[in-house]
Amino acid sequence: MTDEELDALVASLGPAGKVRLLTGASGWRTQGEPAVGLRPLVTSDGPVGVRGESWDERETSLVLPSPTALAAAWDEQLAQEMGGLLAFEARRKGVDVLLAPTLNLHRTPLGGRHFECYAEDPLLTARTGAAVIRGVQEGGVAATAKHFVANDAETDRLTVDVRVGEQALREVYLAPFEAAVDAGVWVVMSAYNRVNGATMSASPLLAEPLKGAWGFDGVVVSDWGAVRSTVETARAAQDLAMPGPESAWGDALLAAVRTGAVAESALDDKVRRLLRLADRVGALGAPAPRWRPVVPESHRRALLRRAVAAGTVLVRNTGSAGPVLPLDPGRLRTVAVIGPRAAEPRIQGGGSAEVFPARTVSPLAGIRQALGPDVRVLHAPGVPPERRPVPLSGALARNPMSGQQGVLVRLLDAEGAELHAEHRLSGRIVEPARVDGAATVEIRALLRPGVTGEWTLAVGGFGPISLAVDGRTVLAGEFARDTDDPTRVHVSPPYRRATLPLTAGQGYEVVARRGLAPDTGVATVLAAAPPPGCPAAALAEAVSAARAADAVVLVVGTTEATESEGSDRGSLSLPDGQDALVRAVSGAHPDTVVLVNSGGPVALPWREEVAALLIGWFPGQEAGHGLADVLLGRAEPGGRLPTTWPVRQSDVPVLDTVPDRGALRYDEGLHIGYRAWLRGRSAPAYWFGHGLGYTSWQYERLDVPRSVAADGSFEVRVQVRNTGGREGREVVQVYLARPETTVERPARWLAGHAAVRARPGETAEAVVRVDRRALEHWSVTGHGWRTEPGGFTVCAGRSAGDLPLTAEIRVPAPAWQAAGERSETVTPR
Ligand code: BGC
Repeated sequence: MTDEELDALVASLGPAGKVRLLTGASGWRTQGEPAVGLRPLVTSDGPVGVRGESWDERETSLVLPSPTALAAAWDEQLAQEMGGLLAFEARRKGVDVLLAPTLNLHRTPLGGRHFECYAEDPLLTARTGAAVIRGVQEGGVAATAKHFVANDAETDRLTVDVRVGEQALREVYLAPFEAAVDAGVWVVMSAYNRVNGATMSASPLLAEPLKGAWGFDGVVVSDWGAVRSTVETARAAQDLAMPGPESAWGDALLAAVRTGAVAESALDDKVRRLLRLADRVGALGAPAPRWRPVVPESHRRALLRRAVAAGTVLVRNTGSAGPVLPLDPGRLRTVAVIGPRAAEPRIQGGGSAEVFPARTVSPLAGIRQALGPDVRVLHAPGVPPERRPVPLSGALARNPMSGQQGVLVRLLDAEGAELHAEHRLSGRIVEPARVDGAATVEIRALLRPGVTGEWTLAVGGFGPISLAVDGRTVLAGEFARDTDDPTRVHVSPPYRRATLPLTAGQGYEVVARRGLAPDTGVATVLAAAPPPGCPAAALAEAVSAARAADAVVLVVGTTEATESEGSDRGSLSLPDGQDALVRAVSGAHPDTVVLVNSGGPVALPWREEVAALLIGWFPGQEAGHGLADVLLGRAEPGGRLPTTWPVRQSDVPVLDTVPDRGALRYDEGLHIGYRAWLRGRSAPAYWFGHGLGYTSWQYERLDVPRSVAADGSFEVRVQVRNTGGREGREVVQVYLARPETTVERPARWLAGHAAVRARPGETAEAVVRVDRRALEHWSVTGHGWRTEPGGFTVCAGRSAGDLPLTAEIRVPAPAWQAAGERSETVTPR
């Protein structure tokens, strides 16, 4: 639709009609308006999958590798394909607007949503995000660049005021959003936090640079519940308040328009943008023909499996008789697959991004299947079961009415009479059915413990709560809501616990109830944890499995208690004695291969005591198949780190997530990630960009042009030789440095990258395009992009810490500039 046609539709609506469209109709839908041919738009979270409109474990979704894993592939083609997969899932679920990608940065590894962001480097984040956006939108679904901007940690995220200098804001934190706009993104989500005093849903940054200099013509949607004022946010370039129907806009906004506090023209611009978005996704005018998938399910799984291998990073590969990986399947008789995450991997992080997989292939299952029946596979978790209650499911709990695995959920009226009953697969009921007159949610299960001892039972949620076991009340109380954070209120509410002795094999009827008092959120959870196990026995079992095996794969990782939206991590250490497990197992078997299953960095104090070390992130549902491909050499571990891994937490140069008197100061400026490590005193365990693959490479030649092109870009050619024994893919990275400079700069910064493939002995030439922006800096005096003429050092290599080739390039002041500013080149825009 043309702008004139959109304007005519806007003009046909009165102020009340316009205001109505600007707040959501429900949790995930916008309002429709038949008078202009607008149907409601359906939104849903990403970025690891598309949950759809309901939060229900029976509505399953494909689970992609975490964004950290995707960025680790350094492969824009793959990122675009993943975007296409998300679009597919969105259309399958009737979703028009995907609330992804997350373009915040790995400022600190403690960030609770680290797994959900791509990288510590703005360029890698920008390129991966832009590729995902292209893939999603090519499928006719809107992508959402979120959370605009500087929402890089979770502590006090609704109120924290991030104090960040203009140069760092432009060069680091805004850069991925600018690239998203260049890629044509249709929606941008304003964040909860403040930046330099202004809350982001009313921030001047929405107007300038987002809609002004960058030319963003889509919709600025609020983060969920982030529109908390009427006039201030409506006057700002905030377009749509989600969710609804309650919001600080609605009637209050209409009143503000009537008194002139908010101009009606401000509404017009917002509505025009909303209609443009609707037109883009096919929600305006004649209904689009029904969409049917054409690609078979097996293709999608194969793509996910390929993505697991592509993002897995091999950071160390030694062994008693040469590199232990890949394993030679022909020489394996007994393989031990050890560790708490071997049979129960974490395939995704926690929070609004969570989706429900139809299946999960664990490392244990993937390795078993790949090795076939002739190889014996031993398994030992190596640490006792977690002491943290997990929602009831599977073998532990049955529906007392039907006997099926799972729980019975009932909605009761004020007198306790049943209004509705349904079978659910999990004791975590995030959104109970909506039934008029419901006063209580009840979750009922027949619990049959596998071990005798002191069990912990828990109920999650706010408001009046009770828990009864075989008719005896073991927990009761009124638990006041203590936060406005939607994730804590509606998704992962706190647990209240009771401990009691239970006997193995005996059946117990467990009934949790929560009163549906106003303002207490929607989630109710019934969870349990087994009695404490014996760490020494678990360790001994793992050690004896390792001793009995020809090969050992040890899978360690974080637990559901960390790496989740709504809170930051307190520690980078592996929990539950896993460091001791690694040491004991690698002591028992010299060729132990360790896989780390976490969304972001963990401390690896034993990293040089194990033969091989793989970083597998949160790999999504096909985890085990992708891992088996890597272990057995069917696929090369393609990943290169998108974030620097420390040896220990105390070495990390930028760590803080906790605001001081409401403010979180980004005093490190431009220097996050490898840029900070390069200025610090300690060396990291593994640099940004590091990753070995299964062959070795020699960096032979670097060619840089004499001068840059008229558009300010240039091409670098890097010749590499495959010096190893198998074909491989190398990610050639190019960094710039400016040894003598008059402006603040990183020690060096990523300027471009390109991947090449070569067979053993062959050379390949990587052609790396360096965009003009890589030579520019943001001038805080001129408030614009500038180029400092003179010499830049071009470095090429395999990580921010391993750059064997260097060359110089001279950047002249462009002719049109020479007459103007002398030392700095002004770039309009
Ligand atoms: C998160 C967003 C998410 C929204 C809707 C918020 O709490 O910060 O990333 O899209 O909820 O679930």
